[in-house]
Parts: sequence; structure tokens; C-alpha cells
Amino acid sequence: MSEKRGRMIDPRCVVVALDFSDAGAVMELASGLDPDNCRLKVGKELYTHRGPALVEKLIADGFDVFLDLKFHDIPNTVAGACAAAADLGVWMVNVHALGGRRMMEAARAAVAQKAHQPLLIAVTILTSMSDSDLHEIGLSGSAEENVIRLAKLAEQSGLDGVVCSPLEVTALGRECREGFQFITPGIRPAGAQVNDQKRITTPTDALKSGADYLVIGRPITAADDPLAALQAINAEIRAAFPITA
Ligand code: C5P
Repeated sequence: MSEKRGRMIDPRCVVVALDFSDAGAVMELASGLDPDNCRLKVGKELYTHRGPALVEKLIADGFDVFLDLKFHDIPNTVAGACAAAADLGVWMVNVHALGGRRMMEAARAAVAQKAHQPLLIAVTILTSMSDSDLHEIGLSGSAEENVIRLAKLAEQSGLDGVVCSPLEVTALGRECREGFQFITPGIRPAGAQVNDQKRITTPTDALKSGADYLVIGRPITAADDPLAALQAINAEIRAAFPITA
């Protein structure tokens, strides 16, 4: 671990987004990666295709898995889903903060009863939503104001952190308690293809802003040599945050 403004940089702060539907492609990619150098994210597409068996296989292969299913339902249902994620053995699971305090508190209480307790993270406002999209569904104020309000609600509800844009991390760091975790997508190493991301940040800049974990997909998964791409990102991070332990 190395230090970043009083917090520690996790040497496995890169979370590789497995945005595939094909289990063969996932296992081929995972077999070329090293669980000591990254974590993996399984989202709705892959999970809907392949289900818990694939998650169990990745965990059995030594990977920490972020189950990115963004649960949003009545408190009892979300609590049950989070309990199931804990039983599955995932490292991190998430819910929508828009489900409200009682839903998040129920999720927290369900996970707290488990022997294995994943980090419980909230999604605030999807970055695909513009201010006008928010007004259309009845949310006033800017996207950033809503993100900050919902992150604080997640914190008060006992959650461990939020998924957010690297550009929101600095403001959220001022508003939320020390140790509240920030998970940021929208990361591109210098010189990498931007793809469809609009507002991007390099891994080092995201960590300097206060991000704890970096969700990175195509710069690794679409590389000719995914392991080399991951190692280059980790080398960039280690150069900026020397490990002193
Ligand atoms: O390939 P890329 O690095 O753009 O993948 C980013 C991952 O982060 C994808 O799994 C995407 O769904 C997710 N994500 C995102 N932007 C958000 C929230 C999640 O790109 N605001």
C-alpha cells in the first residue's frame, strides 16, 4: 500500500470491467490476468447471460469480484439480493441511492449479518443523465448537486462508498467522511482511445483526486495484450505513488 492524502492506495485498485456476454471470452481474458494485480467487475449483461456460476468460477480462480447489478427495489427485496451477493462471496456489490434511506439501511443490515461482508456501494446519478433528464423525472438542481446529496444519504445510511465520476471525487471528498470509498469509471491512460467516454481522467489523476478504485474496461479488455496493458497502468500508478511499506 502507498499513501495518498492520508489514505492508502490499494495495489489492486484497478477493477477490470468484464463487459462481455460470452463466458469463453471472459475466462480467456481472466486466465491471462493476475488476481494479485487487479480485481474484476461483472455487470448486468454478463450476469444475465451467465449468472452466479461464472462469478463463483472467477472467485474460485482467486479474483475479487465487484457485482455491478445496481439493485433498486423495495427494501426487503434489495436486502435479500445483497444477502445473496454476500453468500456468493463477492468483494463489492452496489445499489441505487435513489432507492432511498430505508432501502439502503435494509441492505446494510442484511450484509451485516453475513460472515462474508462485501463492500456495499451506492450509485448516485447515472452519468448518462443530463440536467434536463433529471428535471424531466422531477429532480431539481444540477447533476452534481444531486450526486452530492445522494452520496451523503448513502453515507448516513451506512454504506461504504459511491460510484462516481473522477471529476466529482474532489467535491465528494470534502463532503463525505474519511474512509468513504470512491469508485470511478471514465478512466483512460494517457494516449488510450477514448471510445464512447466523454469526460475522462488518467488513472494517476483520478487517484490524486481521491478515487480509491478505478473501473477500467476497454483500455485493458480490448488491448492486444490485456496483461501488458494492466501492467502498464499499474506501473504508472506505482510511479506516482511509490509503495513505501
Ligand atoms: O470500457 P470502459 O473503460 O469505458 O468501461 C467502463 C465501465 O464502467 C463499463 O462497465 C461501464 O458500464 C462502467 N461505467 C461507466 N460510466 C459510469 C458508470 C459505469 O463507464 N458512469
